[in-house]
Parts: sequence; C-alpha cells; structure tokens
Amino acid sequence: MRSLTGIKPTGDIHMGNLLGSVLPALALQEKYTAYYFIADYHALTTARDPDGVRRASREVAATFLAFGLDIEKNVLFRQSDVPVVCELAWILACQMGAGVIDRGHAVKAARDGGHDITAGTMFYPVLMAADILLYDSAIVPVGKDQKQHVEIARDIAVSINHHYGAGTLVVPEVSIQAEVGVVPGLDGRKMSKSYGNAIPIWSTSKQLRKTCMKIVTDSLGVDDAKDPDTDNVFNLYKLFATPEQREDLAARYRAGGLGYGHAKQELFEVIDALLADKRPIYEHWIAHPEELDALLAAGGERARATADARMDVVRRAVGLR
Ligand code: ADP
Ligand code: TRP
Repeated sequence: MRSLTGIKPTGDIHMGNLLGSVLPALALQEKYTAYYFIADYHALTTARDPDGVRRASREVAATFLAFGLDIEKNVLFRQSDVPVVCELAWILACQMGAGVIDRGHAVKAARDGGHDITAGTMFYPVLMAADILLYDSAIVPVGKDQKQHVEIARDIAVSINHHYGAGTLVVPEVSIQAEVGVVPGLDGRKMSKSYGNAIPIWSTSKQLRKTCMKIVTDSLGVDDAKDPDTDNVFNLYKLFATPEQREDLAARYRAGGLGYGHAKQELFEVIDALLADKRPIYEHWIAHPEELDALLAAGGERARATADARMDVVRRAVGLR
C-alpha cells in the first residue's frame, strides 16, 4: 500500500520538527511504500527568498536521508519536479465549490494571524488535494491540523469518481498520526523557529552544548530537591533518553545534590549521541548538493511515472484528450 507525506521545507529544522514530524514520517517506511516529497510549491505561499527555498529544500531532504530514509524502497522527491501537480490542481479546482477554499484551515489560520493572504494560500488545500490524488495515495498520515485538508482531497475524489466514473481517482484514507506531544523550547514554550527558542538539529557538538546550556530553569541551588516534571531540561531529556536513563535522572532531581548545569550536560550528551552517526551523512549531502539534486531528480522521475499514468486517466475523463 502506498502512503504519501509532504514536508514543507522550513529553514533551520529543529528538534520539535525532528520528533514531531521527521521521525514519525520515517516510521511509515516499515509498513508502506512511502512517497515523501518536499512541498516547495507550498512553501512559496509564504517564502520570498529563492536561496532560502533552495537551501531549506536540500536541508530537509538531507535530514530525511541522515535519519535513515531508504530510497531503494521508497521515493523522495521535490514537489516541483512533477509540475503536472499544478494541472491536476486546476482540474480539481474546477470541480470544487468555492466554499471549500473559504473554510480551509490554512486560510483561516493565516487570517486569524492577521497576515495578508495570497491567492496561493487560498489555493493551498487544492494543491494539497492534487498532491494526494496524483500519486494514487491509499493512505495519508498527517497531524490533526492537516486532517481537514486530506478530507477535502477525499471528498473531491469521491465526487469526481461519481461524475466521471469509478476509478478515475484513488480515494485516500486519512490516518491521524499519534501525537508526539509538544516539544518544549529553551524557554519552556512550544519549540518553534518563530519564538527563537529552538534547538537546531544540525550544529556542531560544541554549538549544541552551548544551546543546551541556555535552557531556562528556576533558581533552586545545587543541593535543593527538584521536581523533574516542571523543569525544561528534564522535559527535553525525557524525549531523548531511554526509560532507564529517565528514571535515573528523575530520581537524582528529587534527591537534591544535582545542579541544573549538570542536568544540561546530560541532556547535551544524549542528544549528541543520537546525532553522532547522522551528522556525517547530513554533512555529506549538504557538501555535495549536485549529488543530492541528482538523487531528488531520480526520485522525481519515479514519481512522474506514477503521476503521468494518473494524469492520462484524468485528462481523458474530463475531456482534455
Ligand atoms: P515551526 O513552529 O518551527 O515553524 P513548523 O510549523 O514548520 O515549525 O512545523 C513543521 C512540522 O514539525 C509540523 O509537522 C509540526 O507538527 C512539527 N513541529 C514543529 N514544532 C514542534 C514542536 N515544538 N513539537 C512537536 N512537533 C513540532
Ligand atoms: N500541508 C502540509 C503541512 O503543512 C504539507 C503537505 C503538502 C502535505 N501537501 C501534502 C502533507 C500532501 C500530506 C499530503 O504539513
């Protein structure tokens, strides 16, 4: 069965992205033939810096490769390497009631945030439906916030099949990914690049240690007993540590005699150990963008074969051939 995951290329990918998005997406490889694409067309709804888009796209791809994406079994590609997705988006748009656009969650979020909305943002769910339907995706695992978008894709597929014949499009199922929970940032709020409280995935050991030392704690002294559950350092530590490590550190918090500096050092060590064998792979791809681009292009070619077959069916169905 084929699953499909789109990842928006966001700059300076951080530990919240890793635990909340990259690792759950990679877990799909075990069960499905997984299609992963870098949603660079979607990024253009807000991104205005061309080098930034290019860089972030490569960084996301290199991150997936460093964390073990198997490109023999699965397909990794750039959304924009299969431009017929825009053609399908147009065809879908012509079948959708305009109300769909207005109710779209991305549009609402942008409006509520007081941002100026581009027509591209309004079109966001249509393009996303095209992503899903172009590759005959049986299952689309997403976070709760994206559920509505997948349902839009499902509804339009059902309606097109009803009008043009069963089998014109594969009707996708949404699968809601188990909540990983919110990864806290250096200041205890949700880790986010917009809050400036992120721990980047990719930095040197030395920088990573420095970042960990910046985590905000209360002012209890070394000897004081501490509550692990209300401490930022521990709340991050528990996401990376084994259950034994977690219990051990929690016990030392409660006993007193453990300073926050020491806890931060232990946090740094578990994260650094996680990254040790991944950094060289990431750095290899970043240092060889031409190799990475070739790998993405090869993925694009495989994706295009699937896409072209589906587009042929759709064009005939609606009368374009
Ligand atoms: P940011 O808030 O830094 O802009 P994005 O909104 O681009 O991050 O998030 C991309 C993906 O990473 C989403 O799937 C989101 O659920 C996940 N993610 C981002 N921040 C966190 C966090 N602090 N905890 C858990 N998951 C997160
Ligand atoms: N909108 C998704 C996000 O913001 C990214 C995305 C684009 C996507 N197209 C998709 C996800 C298709 C799943 C399927 O995270």
